Amino acid sequence: MPSPERILVAVAWPYASGPRHIGHVAGFGVPADIFARYQRLKGNDVLMVSGTDEHGTPVMVAAEQAGVTTREIADRNNEIIRTDLKNLGLSYDLFTRTTTANHYRVTRDLFSTLYANGYIHEQRQLGAFSAVTGHTLPDRYIEGTCPHCGYDDARGDQCDQCGRQLDPIELKSPRSKIDGQPPVFRETEHLFLDLPAFAEQLIAWIQQQEHWRPNVRNFSLRLLDEIKPRPITRDLDWGVPIPVEGYDDRDDKKIYVWFDAVIGYLSASVEWAHNRGTPDAWRDWWQNPEARHYYFQGKDNIVFHSVIWPSMLLGYGQGGEIGAGKGPLGLPYDIVASEFLTMEGRKFSSSRSVVIYVNDFLSRYDADALRFFLTAAGPETQDSDFTWAEFVRRNNDELVGNWGNLVNRTLTAGFKNFGEVPTPGPLHPTDSDLLADVARGFAAVGELIETGRVRAASSEILRLSSLVNVYVSDMAPWALVKTDRERAGTVLYVTLRCIDDLKTMLTPILPFSCQKLHGLLGYDTVIAGELEFREETEEDGVSHVVLTGDYTGWVRGWEPGSLPVGQKLRQPVALFTKLDPEQVVADELARMEALG
Ligand code: MF3
Ligand code: ZN
Repeated sequence: MPSPERILVAVAWPYASGPRHIGHVAGFGVPADIFARYQRLKGNDVLMVSGTDEHGTPVMVAAEQAGVTTREIADRNNEIIRTDLKNLGLSYDLFTRTTTANHYRVTRDLFSTLYANGYIHEQRQLGAFSAVTGHTLPDRYIEGTCPHCGYDDARGDQCDQCGRQLDPIELKSPRSKIDGQPPVFRETEHLFLDLPAFAEQLIAWIQQQEHWRPNVRNFSLRLLDEIKPRPITRDLDWGVPIPVEGYDDRDDKKIYVWFDAVIGYLSASVEWAHNRGTPDAWRDWWQNPEARHYYFQGKDNIVFHSVIWPSMLLGYGQGGEIGAGKGPLGLPYDIVASEFLTMEGRKFSSSRSVVIYVNDFLSRYDADALRFFLTAAGPETQDSDFTWAEFVRRNNDELVGNWGNLVNRTLTAGFKNFGEVPTPGPLHPTDSDLLADVARGFAAVGELIETGRVRAASSEILRLSSLVNVYVSDMAPWALVKTDRERAGTVLYVTLRCIDDLKTMLTPILPFSCQKLHGLLGYDTVIAGELEFREETEEDGVSHVVLTGDYTGWVRGWEPGSLPVGQKLRQPVALFTKLDPEQVVADELARMEALG
């Protein structure tokens, strides 16, 4: 076996502004988890990190609407979100929060080092403020009439009718989306990150990244053409304090949420290493030129991962308290950005109730059913649509009808007639051809997952499952057993081996049912076990709960298994539930009614 590679799986941090809907987890969560589980099976050293993104306007607005403090809403939503992610089986090594002392320390270290290295400058600008709270009003929270086309609902950053980029000050009759009042414009000083200083280096670097999806690469290069310094502070009282003289003790200016959020990938790695008692272990991923960093996110996050975060990493260099001269911090290897999921043809929107929250979904259907849909029909390279009809169809025809049916009839025949993995007689060419076809799936499916094409990976596995289904139907071992017990045993042996291999290939996509199947095949080991919550207390005595798991003991091996002859099978149980389309529609109508 080749020596393990270090793979960082960096998953976008969901805002703690509300529960996450299935569009969110389609974009960042499920694809990242499939990738991480696959890499672990392959025997690589994976570090998968993320957490809730708790600063900034979205969380403050949610708190105001709920009539509670920002910290309370962050606590509440952190709990809801991490519970959803756990129930969905997202196998983070650490899912933490941006409000920990550790995150503040790492964020401030990056900020001060960039400042000391001369990449942060003060500049005055005209900013929009809420007339009610005095807080910064981000561009997209300002609405008004477009000066170009007269569209009434243009946003401070762009007009959705004529598509022009706007500055909030250009809008006619501007108003705050939060409280409806006209914003107040005044001069304010901010600290800006000198992005143009990195432009040349970044352009050369991105041009070499031929493995990036073309949309990510071209979009990033276009941005760099006209890159300007960006303010990385905001007029807010909620955020990481700014470690610069004259700014640090102010409670009306904090670090911009996006600046601290991307640092989360690093700070969470540092926290993970600390929590497990090996405080320097994060360096094996971050200060190791051999490590590869994969970032998973929705397409609206690209600029932060392909331009801003790399600039910060370059500007930090070998300095700082955290890096401490132990080598530069690694740049992204790949930026896997998905498109958007729509629902029944419309954009998800919590305000218009066009939304299905993860917890709502999981209260009615299995996590694997959702994971399967989002894999087979997710917005991988173009926007895709969630419809209940298509969800039911994929569940019933593909999951239950193809894979579930194969497993069910084979295990039932094997358990009933042999009770164990039967001893095969001599293999016929049809038997060994089938085994070889399935074995080749490892290379094909692995390549697809590695390059972010999980849609194609899932259809390749289903294609193999169909082949095995055809074989088992043709051979009908349940009938054959009455006339030729040895041959029936051989056929079941071959089919069970195929199922065992397809199980391994499907584990990244369907961890819950594959673990179940693993047990039915008679294994006592764990291929996809439990995730857990752990409470961590920091030096300041404050504790927070993290989502984590111990994945080191799980079965590894991305290759054909060697299902032992004579291994006792367990009493088969159904892996999936067939859905009644009418019931699904009725449940959905009841849910809509409850929403009002
Ligand atoms: N909270 C952001 C969003 O939901 C994503 C942040 S990703 C990270 O769009 F880079 F900040 F981590
Ligand atoms: Zn316009």
